[in-house]
Amino acid sequence: MEKIRIAVLCSGGGTNLQAILDAEEAGLLPCGEVVLVIADSSSAYALKRAQRRGVETAVFDKKEYPKVVREEKIFACLKEHEIGLVVLAGFMTVLSEAFVGAFRGRILNIHPALLPSFGGVGMYGLKVHEAVLKAGVKVTGATVHFVTAECDGGPILAQRAVEVHEDDTPESLQKRVMREAEWVIYPETVEKVCERLTQPRHKGV
Ligand code: GRF
Repeated sequence: MEKIRIAVLCSGGGTNLQAILDAEEAGLLPCGEVVLVIADSSSAYALKRAQRRGVETAVFDKKEYPKVVREEKIFACLKEHEIGLVVLAGFMTVLSEAFVGAFRGRILNIHPALLPSFGGVGMYGLKVHEAVLKAGVKVTGATVHFVTAECDGGPILAQRAVEVHEDDTPESLQKRVMREAEWVIYPETVEKVCERLTQPRHKGV
């Protein structure tokens, strides 16, 4: 069986990338392989995580290229590497409708809350956890979804709930959501999608 060639797109720390690489190393990603990591910032620590594992990296820096050019370059790089699944992991560039459309059913994102709550434009990083605490909800979590033109609005693939504690700060909640939900469901879902993409009916899509 040919594995699905995965590209992970990151902007920062890359702990979700790490979770996916660790799953691969542990044999938990039999249908896919991470062959490329793309960052939109040369200082993204995710690049170091990739290099440590011998995964090819490419940087299209926000400081260097305007959005349209950057996106074109990313698209060309994905095509050149014959990428079958694009995994957004803390990637801070909003991709255009055309880009997303070209990878329909082959582009995933993880959001640090239970969508459709606490999602949408401007909801990223600690802002999500601040909003969760402000709303006073007792349960939050993470969501893996297909990416569509609507910000955080694509079909949901997986969710995992995490308890909100009385004494949580946005930072403590962010850490718990990552540890208990994101790093668990993202590698699992990536494998499930790869498994599906290796089925004969997906060939040539
Ligand atoms: C995660 O919280 C993820 O849910 C969100 O961005 C953050 C990325 O963190 N989309 P990392 O770079 O994977 O550590």
